[in-house]
Amino acid sequence: MQILDGRKVADDLLAHTKEEVRILINSGIQPKLAFLLIGKHPASLSYVKQKEMACQKTNIQYEHHAFPETSSTQEIISLISELNHREDIHGILVQLPLPSNIETPLVIKAINPEKDVDGFHAYNLGKMMLNKNFESLTPCTPKGIIILLETYKIPIEGQEIVMVGHSNIVGKPLSMMLLNRNATITTCHKYTKNLKAHTLRAEILIVAVGLPSLITGDMIKPGAVIVDVGINRVDGKLVGDVNFEQAKEKASFITPVPGGVGPMTVACLMANIVIACKKLTQKNS
Ligand code: GUN
Repeated sequence: MQILDGRKVADDLLAHTKEEVRILINSGIQPKLAFLLIGKHPASLSYVKQKEMACQKTNIQYEHHAFPETSSTQEIISLISELNHREDIHGILVQLPLPSNIETPLVIKAINPEKDVDGFHAYNLGKMMLNKNFESLTPCTPKGIIILLETYKIPIEGQEIVMVGHSNIVGKPLSMMLLNRNATITTCHKYTKNLKAHTLRAEILIVAVGLPSLITGDMIKPGAVIVDVGINRVDGKLVGDVNFEQAKEKASFITPVPGGVGPMTVACLMANIVIACKKLTQKNS
């Protein structure tokens, strides 16, 4: 069994991004991201902190806009409109989930698709559906998982891949990106009958649900590649959605939690900021 070391691959990707940022700065362009954080969701605070640290590592500038929990959809959209027009801002990131009084789809729709470094806007998701060549600003976690698999030379084409979870952030876009790479993809979710019958077929099993130990050893095909996207806090410890101790006896490759998918997400966000910055500034010059 081999560990898929997301921390190491993410560090290499960050080093590459830092070099790209250096070249941009030398030509007079300073990449800059705007964060919007609404409320004080503890996990969101921690994710934003990690993203800010990655900006510091890669010399991407950032500014932080904190809104109270009670803010209205309109107040957030007003700031986004301002940021859409500012030439010094190349990426806009609204940390999700938003408080229930806010209409998340309207907020995402308000972001200029060219500054949508999370890849959540319908324009970017729609383009991604066409084929691999039209993927550009794609959601960071799916992008990170594909880079991780590619780095370890794990084949995707023709593979039996089971995705557990159908969120707009991970499960749905990742299923589409794997289909773009000619995988045979099954997407399972909480309404799936007999989850185990599906997971047992998986040559690559990807789990993004948010339930500790949802996947136990008996649900894993011997030799499978396991990608665990879950981040759950149990007794003060971070664990994934896969029972790691049981899974490591069956898997050929497995991502640890922490140190697997999480760092890849953050590194891909930095890469997306550079992609957006280059495209925006080429157009302006
Ligand atoms: N919440 C969980 N994952 C993400 C992500 O990738 N981006 C944003 N903006 N919010 C998230």
